[in-house]
Amino acid sequence: MAARGGGGGAERPYELVVFGASGFTGQFVVEEVARAAAGGELRGPLRWAVAGRSRDKLQAVLERAAERLGKAALGAEVGVLLCDVGDAGSLAAMARQTRLVLNCVGPYRFFGEPVVKACVENGASCIDISGEPQFLEGMYLKYNEKAAEKGVYVIGSCGFDSIPADMGVLYTRDKLKGTLTAVESFLTVKSGPEGSCIHDGTWKSAVYGLSDQDNLKKLRKQIGYTPVPVVGAKLKRRGLVFYSQEFKEYSIPFMGSDVSVVKRSQRYLHTQLQETPVQYAAYANVGGFGSVMKLMFAGILFLLLVKFSLGRKLLIKYPEFFSAGRFTKKGPTQKQMDETSFTMTFFGEGYSEGQDPQKGNPNVKICTQVKGPEPGYIATPIAMVQAAVALLEDAACLPAQGGVYSPGAAFSKTKLIDRLNKRGVEFSVITKPEV
Ligand SMILES: NC(=O)c1ccc[n+]([C@@H]2O[C@H](COP(=O)([O-])OP(=O)(O)OC[C@H]3O[C@@H](n4cnc5c(N)ncnc54)[C@H](OP(=O)(O)O)[C@@H]3O)[C@@H](O)[C@H]2O)c1
Repeated sequence: MAARGGGGGAERPYELVVFGASGFTGQFVVEEVARAAAGGELRGPLRWAVAGRSRDKLQAVLERAAERLGKAALGAEVGVLLCDVGDAGSLAAMARQTRLVLNCVGPYRFFGEPVVKACVENGASCIDISGEPQFLEGMYLKYNEKAAEKGVYVIGSCGFDSIPADMGVLYTRDKLKGTLTAVESFLTVKSGPEGSCIHDGTWKSAVYGLSDQDNLKKLRKQIGYTPVPVVGAKLKRRGLVFYSQEFKEYSIPFMGSDVSVVKRSQRYLHTQLQETPVQYAAYANVGGFGSVMKLMFAGILFLLLVKFSLGRKLLIKYPEFFSAGRFTKKGPTQKQMDETSFTMTFFGEGYSEGQDPQKGNPNVKICTQVKGPEPGYIATPIAMVQAAVALLEDAACLPAQGGVYSPGAAFSKTKLIDRLNKRGVEFSVITKPEV
């Protein structure tokens, strides 16, 4: 079998380990890895393992995945590693045995760093699905140089946050004949008659993340980012709530990590590869006036409570109540997930070939889309696992040096978009560029 990339050192027992396999998201990541391993997406058989705190839970996850894939068993071909974030030795042992860890243990602000540290020190690459800018950028500050020395890749935000947005901007750029200078994206999530919800693992990450915005500012100062120049007409930011003529519904700024992740990718591509940076703003469509009022009420309450320790305790204890049913301790049912889908629409503008983007107004527009299944537990495992496949299989197209990367920085030259298209997260051009 051809050697795969994604980690240094001699041959290791596993190419990939799913850590946090027993979590709500982890179980679907396991299923998706098993699907990729069986589906011929990789050159040769995949040697992989699941890792977590409880052997019984991990066995149960493997049994469930086998059942859902119509296989007699997965257990025999998949390793099981016992590993706890609180036990550095167990993390080091996991990292030494694999080329790549898919880390599903969150909130990452509490549990993520020891995993990154163990991976970097022991020569394994690491992919996570964090949507927490403070964790993502903190890992860049602390481990970028060490990861480069070790030749490993630490790539955060490889779930719904923020692969569709980050790769969507790059796709839009590549489809425009000319120079793309600005993009706005609009997210629409549609669910079936039974509605949809998000597991409270993500709620916890949001509660602790939003309570700590001040430290994110300090962290960014400490990193001392090179400013990204504005090329082309400056992208105007929309208001806190506005009526979108394109969708005939109200929209609000998207609260996730997309904007910060895209900015990191654009900074990297500009400073390292001299590519023209694209300005980006992300919005989410929220429906009619009634939905806006509900959302504003819930949002104000959330922002008030999140500032105080007692408020945070209440938010964590009663996710369903404070999110008006959007986040639950049980997570969505299979039926809810099957009936949910997302569309992210990108409106790009730029300058046609031969036109100087430093002069005058943009003269070309393009509209593209990324569409996919339920974001949290179907699209996220697909994105994470395809990122892993790209890291292992398209190793020659990764940045020449290891380091801590955003998905767009790491995968811009790989076949990740083609791979996602094949798994149902589809990128397409809606309206061709017109001058
Ligand atoms: N990017 C996206 O779009 C996206 C989508 C979905 C989820 N996420 C993120 O993924 C993370 C997980 O979410 P979730 O809903 O799956 O949470 P969850 O169900 O609570 O899962 C947490 C996992 O972490 C494990 N864990 C907790 N403490 C541990 C420790 N000390 N040592 C080892 N393992 C430990 C748990 O193991 P046990 O089973 O042993 O308790 C469980 O497997 C969250 O940060 C969430 O925000 C992101």
